[in-house]
Formats: sequence, C-alpha cells, structure tokens
Amino acid sequence: MDTIYETIGTNEEKNRQVFAQAGEILRSGGLVAFPTETVYGLGGNALDEEAAAKIYAAKGRPSDNPLIVHIADIEALKVLCSKIPDSAFKLAERFWPGPLTMILKKSAVVPHTTTGGLDTVAIRMPDHPVALDLIRSSGVYVAAPSANLSGRPSPTRAEHVRQDMEGRIDMILDGGSVNIGIESTIIDLTETVPVILRPGYITREMLESVLGTVEIDKAVALGKQSDAPPKAPGMKYRHYAPKGDMVIVEGKNPDKVMECINRMARDKMQNGIRTGILATDETKACYHADCVISVGNRESEISISSHLFDVLRQFDDLGVEYIISESFSRKNVGYAIMNRLLKAAGGKIVNTDESEAER
Ligand code: TXA
Ligand code: MG
Repeated sequence: MDTIYETIGTNEEKNRQVFAQAGEILRSGGLVAFPTETVYGLGGNALDEEAAAKIYAAKGRPSDNPLIVHIADIEALKVLCSKIPDSAFKLAERFWPGPLTMILKKSAVVPHTTTGGLDTVAIRMPDHPVALDLIRSSGVYVAAPSANLSGRPSPTRAEHVRQDMEGRIDMILDGGSVNIGIESTIIDLTETVPVILRPGYITREMLESVLGTVEIDKAVALGKQSDAPPKAPGMKYRHYAPKGDMVIVEGKNPDKVMECINRMARDKMQNGIRTGILATDETKACYHADCVISVGNRESEISISSHLFDVLRQFDDLGVEYIISESFSRKNVGYAIMNRLLKAAGGKIVNTDESEAER
C-alpha cells in the first residue's frame, strides 16, 4: 500500500482538503496517523471492527491490548459508555482536552475488537488542533494507539511514524513534534477508588485535587514488587524499548553516579560493545562513550519527557548495543518519565548507594 504523507501547515485551504481526504479514509475503514499533544496516534474508526483489526495488524500488536477511543466532544461519552460516574465529568471539565484517558464501562455500540475483549473502554479528548480537526472532519470516534510498531518507542515526530508505518497504513498527517512526548495518564473510574493504570503528564496529585484519594495500580507503582498483572493490558509488555540493552544508574551523589556510568561504559566498550549514554544538558560533557546524547534539561521536566522516545530511537539508529541512562526524580512528571525509562530498561537499575554499601 502507498502511504499518503501530508504536512499540516499554514495554508488553510490546503489543510481543509487534507482533513477532508483523511476524514474520508477513516469513514471508509482506513487508517490515518496523526499528532496529539502526547505522542502520534494511529487512528481508525473505533466502531468499525475491521478498522480496529487493521490497527492491530499494522502495529503487530496483540489483540488483547485495547485501544484508546479519541473524541472531540464530551457528548460522545454518552454514546460510548453505559455508566458515567460524576468523577468522569469532573475530570473532563478540568483536564480535557488533554493528556488524560479515562476507563469507563463501555456501551453496546463499542465492539470488543476495540476494547481487546474487555467490557470497559478507554476514552480521551486530545489537546491538539490536528487531532481535533481530524476527528471532527471524519465524523467518527477515532480508536488510536501510539503509531509505533508494537514494542518500539512511541513516535513523537512524523518521521518516527514513517519509519514504522510506511506502506502499512493509508495516510500520515505531519503536525510537527509533539509537546509532551509520553503517553497520556490512564485512570480507571470503574473501581470504587479511582486507580492510575499508567502514569503520565497529569499526575496523581493533580487527579487527587479533583477526586480525593487516587490509587496507583500495584503492578505499575515504581520500586514495588508485585506479582499481580497490570490492569492496563499494554503495561505488561516490554514497551518503549530501544533495540539495545539498557540499564539505569541512580544514587544520591551525582558525582558517584557519573563515575559509575563512565566506568560501566568503559567496561562495555573494552569488550567491543557499542555503548551509548543517556545524559542531560548538565552532565553531557562529563561522559565518555561511543554516543552521548542529552535528553533535555534537568530544570525542565517537559524538555526531558518530550525528547525521551526520540533519544531512544536515536540510539537505535546509531547502532548502540548497550545504553546507560541517568535517572530522574520521581516527583511530578518525573514519575512517568521513570516509568517509561524502567520499561525501556526492562526494570534494570543500579543504585550507587547500595553498591557502595556492599563494598
Ligand atoms: O497518549 C496516548 O494515550 C496515546 C495517544 C495516541 O493518544 N495513545 C496511546 O495508546 O498511548 P496505546 O494504545 O499505545 O496505549 C493504550 C494503553 C494500553 O496500555 C492499553 O492496555 C490501555 O491503554 N487500555 C486501553 N483500554 C483499556 C481498558 N479498557 N482497560 C484497561 N486498559 C486499557
Ligand atoms: Mg503504545
């Protein structure tokens, strides 16, 4: 299949034509990738089982991993859900459009193909003009997982989508780089106490300011061991992963962390392993490895979240076999950043304070 590639720019007339064409593709069961404020999504008609099946096929995604339905209008909740708690309206008012996905009981119109067989449905109103214009011009609800091949880091630029999806989908809309760079926070509102199934830019504190107590799914809570499977099926897969092996180094003393990272890199390179270091603007100059890339500035969480997946892809492109990453404070958005880094590293983390104690 030839994939149509269009850039949304400043020419309003051209944009109108592109949205009309993209909307038509979605209405007729095709797939269109588009930017959101979090990551690029791979959209298809959420109420069309065949379109949903095509999404799983294009991504190479297991069909038990449900899709998020994107809406442009709050009224859509009443069509897609069978029971809507007050908390959903409160959260929508505060955070939509925005990087928050709510899990609610699905209505009969939502096919099980879209929900991976579950009786609940994930819904989000994205905060990006291209996403909203696309949903509106299509007139359908748009099921959209991140537009990467399953297992690869989520796409934060149209070029990433092209790398993974060229020839597999009908159209890619290029709306430039995304703003946030990590996927939406997912909150399950079907339990008595709301539960965060995936951390993101909307933090637990922000949710608690609207809802009171909010829990974090045990399988997702950082640093806690749990045998329970995560409630968001997608969180059980090794996700967001670069091709190379990865390890995170943390510790109280930044100099020790740096020393440890340089030592590990030297060992790997001596064994002929192409090694990369995921650094920050503050530390980049202090490292020695085959590739040292800064993910952003420690003063700005968003500079880090917005570049994280891009940097993981850069390591892939550079043929890096082993990545050593700095760690980040788990406060605020840092919690979600560490969640994604830990997933990319398959949970491997070295603590310089502990190795100190062992010596
Ligand atoms: O920011 C985002 O949410 C992006 C953009 C494109 O909107 N989308 C995204 O979709 O990250 P995806 O498919 O890559 O991740 C969706 C996650 C998966 O972990 C999936 O298991 C979970 O949402 N999920 C979807 N429906 C669910 C449900 N009914 N119950 C529990 N988890 C659900
Ligand atoms: Mg994804």
